[in-house]
Amino acid sequence: MNIGVFASGRGSNFQAILNAIQQDRLPARVTLVLSNKGDAGALDIARTYSLPALHLSHKQFSDEASFASAMLDALKQHDVHLIALAGYLRKIPSSVVQAYRNRILNIHPALLPSFGGAGMYGHHVHEAVLASGAKYSGATVHLVDDDYDRGPIVLQKTVPVDELDTPETLAAKVLNIEHEIYPLALKAFAENRVTINERSVWIH
Ligand code: GRF
Repeated sequence: MNIGVFASGRGSNFQAILNAIQQDRLPARVTLVLSNKGDAGALDIARTYSLPALHLSHKQFSDEASFASAMLDALKQHDVHLIALAGYLRKIPSSVVQAYRNRILNIHPALLPSFGGAGMYGHHVHEAVLASGAKYSGATVHLVDDDYDRGPIVLQKTVPVDELDTPETLAAKVLNIEHEIYPLALKAFAENRVTINERSVWIH
């Protein structure tokens, strides 16, 4: 399975995916790394591994349609089978969502469907979890559709929230879990062990 990783930031989930591939825990290859940010750490990681690193931003195009078509061209050129969003902070153009229906995954640093949606990224998520008094948080891998953070859930794992947690300590605990479950979810797709039935996704 050829994975296209989309990332806007430091790329620790991307690194976890590469580690899993190198340690034979994930039968896949990363054939493209795409970022809307030219200075994303994820692009640096890609270059270190001599993987195709592409800075592609809607700002480079006069309209959404030409941006989407450049994205589709890049995906085709690198023969991407599945897109893994790993801290990609832009909405995917809907023509790309359609072309890759059920083949785009995202990782979110909370237990969806709570604490997701517009504005819920980075420390905002962990602050909201702490403010809610929730006793568990966690990470969610889900399919991407046109609705932000609302696609069918593929895999989740919880972490306990402790009385002394700060947004930073909670983020660190959740990030560890993200690095564990994202490669597992991708492995299930690579091995065709996934059943997708409307809103429910099951791994066998
Ligand atoms: C992660 O917390 C992920 O859940 C969220 O963005 C963050 C990306 O971190 N979508 P990294 O760039 O993978 O380190």
